[in-house]
Amino acid sequence: MLAITGATGHLGQATIQALLAKVAPTEIVAVVRDPEKATALRQQGVQVRPGDYNDPASLQAAFQGVETVLFISTSEVEYEIRMRQHQHVIDAAKQAGVRHVVYTSLLNPSRESQFGASPSHLATEEYLRASGLTHTIFRNTFYLDILPMFIGENALPSGKIYFAAGDGKVSYALREEIAQALANVLTSSGHDNQIYDIAPAPPYSLHDVATALTEVSGQPVAYVPISSEDMAAGMRQHQVPEPVVDLTSGIARAISANEFNSASPAFEQLLGRKPTDLKTYLATVYGK
Ligand SMILES: NC(=O)c1ccc[n+]([C@@H]2O[C@H](COP(=O)([O-])OP(=O)(O)OC[C@H]3O[C@@H](n4cnc5c(N)ncnc54)[C@H](OP(=O)(O)O)[C@@H]3O)[C@@H](O)[C@H]2O)c1
Repeated sequence: MLAITGATGHLGQATIQALLAKVAPTEIVAVVRDPEKATALRQQGVQVRPGDYNDPASLQAAFQGVETVLFISTSEVEYEIRMRQHQHVIDAAKQAGVRHVVYTSLLNPSRESQFGASPSHLATEEYLRASGLTHTIFRNTFYLDILPMFIGENALPSGKIYFAAGDGKVSYALREEIAQALANVLTSSGHDNQIYDIAPAPPYSLHDVATALTEVSGQPVAYVPISSEDMAAGMRQHQVPEPVVDLTSGIARAISANEFNSASPAFEQLLGRKPTDLKTYLATVYGK
């Protein structure tokens, strides 16, 4: 049996849908903190079990009889909370007799990163390795489908993308395609104790994004790099909550420092085909 944590989140749901094409629904355990959000999964025949990252006993119960867990990292922001929750998941997997944990980490995780979530991903990888559990680590790059958030709602009317990423480049990957690659790994062998950089070539700067956006929309768009301080001030003017200001500024500084500028053939190999490229994706959102 395969268990998926964070099963009512975007990546968890997409992975379960990809898995349903490969295994019987009864072989899939959706571990969710709010079972009411999992009605559709239950209707598809998936087993739904309660499991909260803050509640070790619920996780241990959820993992009974499970051979492989897809452990999707928490959406919490603060380091101490993230680590406590992540340790609960790994400890529970071990105590429940799970053989293999597949963890969704971050590209180039580092304690020195400008991006707030990065140190906890590195520490979680270390904790997982030290647990002795067989593991596979997906070091996910930024999702291509969150790029419209960086582009901003006013990009097309104003012809400008304002962001504080300098000339930094990012290898983007679509969340749905990461889910398909995860489903392929969860249903095949040869991935024990492997680390995969989920970072398809080519990486793109926001100048490249503006060029692609111009081509698909037919309207001229330029990227205007601004300072991290100016970006934070702009967000505060629009009453963006302080934790989101911090998170977004950190992401921008990390992109600027090229922390997500990597390219690896691993994603294409695991997906079994060429990933969707920037322009094709932007055309689905901004196409004429
Ligand atoms: N690479 C990127 O660009 C990127 C972007 C955003 C996030 N991420 C990371 O990747 C993860 C997956 O992405 P996503 O798009 O699927 O995020 P998401 O839609 O926010 O899903 C996060 C999942 O974590 C679950 N969760 C949070 N706290 C929990 C708790 N205490 N106990 C049990 N489950 C809990 C949520 O449960 P509910 O469904 O009940 O809310 C949700 O299912 C995120 O959690 C985050 O760590 C990566």
